[in-house]
Amino acid sequence: MGLSGKDLTGLRNVSPGEIQLILDTAAPMKEIIKRQIKKVPILRGRTVVTVFYETSTRTRTSFELAAKYLSADAVNIAAATSSVKKGESLKDTARTIEAMGADVVALRHPMAGAAELLGGCLGARVINAGDGAHEHPTQALLDLFTVREKKGRIEGLKVAIIGDILYSRVARSDIWGYTKMGAEVRLAGPATLMPPGMEKFGVKVCSCLEEALDGADVINVLRIQLERQQHGLFPNLQEYSRLFGIDRERLRLAAPGALVMHPGPMNRGVEISAEVADGLQSVINEQVTNGVAVRMALLYLLIGGGAQNEANY
Ligand code: CP
Repeated sequence: MGLSGKDLTGLRNVSPGEIQLILDTAAPMKEIIKRQIKKVPILRGRTVVTVFYETSTRTRTSFELAAKYLSADAVNIAAATSSVKKGESLKDTARTIEAMGADVVALRHPMAGAAELLGGCLGARVINAGDGAHEHPTQALLDLFTVREKKGRIEGLKVAIIGDILYSRVARSDIWGYTKMGAEVRLAGPATLMPPGMEKFGVKVCSCLEEALDGADVINVLRIQLERQQHGLFPNLQEYSRLFGIDRERLRLAAPGALVMHPGPMNRGVEISAEVADGLQSVINEQVTNGVAVRMALLYLLIGGGAQNEANY
């Protein structure tokens, strides 16, 4: 069994069975990361190109490391230092990369739908590494993997997603992922950052932070995306922190042992206090490690021959 689509542009069209497969495949990949020699020959001779039109630390680096740990060649193209600066279009840039032999293109782009557009005009596999405020599927997959690893299951857990839902591609992919895997999803954030009609996605929109946190097993704290915001959607950062910041006192409202998660980069002291970010319930650093394992799993499933290669782990 493998993934049904050529590309991974979002979790909206990925089945629960496929999500399960990716998570199951990521588990042995994590074992490889723990070894002293982090290298297996599964993707030898294959090429992965990361094309980033926006800044990134975690996603870009973890795609590169994932490719390298599986022995693929990995190349990064940053829009700021490429011919994009000379006016080259996204399609022309991608076709140029494909002409050089790329098997997978991982794309981060400020426009929603960019990865899908690219997937439609390339033979290479395309993975969405974040497109505008639309989706960030590999982030959601690593979140799911982390929850399953820590809690032993996803189904039936109460998951609170807190903050800037309007601009968050992580929130959108998390909502698809958690609901498909049977979790109860609650959203809370400023009314100005909560899109109308979210209930149709099978989530509960809470009237206050406390309602979302009450007995939650998992707290997904979202980053306030200052770079995407129009002015005036909340009064100021201090006010946001006062109403929606996760601190030690608010963490006590959640279930004992609730996981604290954040996709990064964090605005410490705004959406999350430093003591919670660095506290015993935080799994933020493990999310980063798991991001490499999940991306290894995806690369393997997309270009590594699927289950036939299992013996080569
Ligand atoms: N979570 C995430 O996408 O982080 P980066 O922007 O650093 O890739």
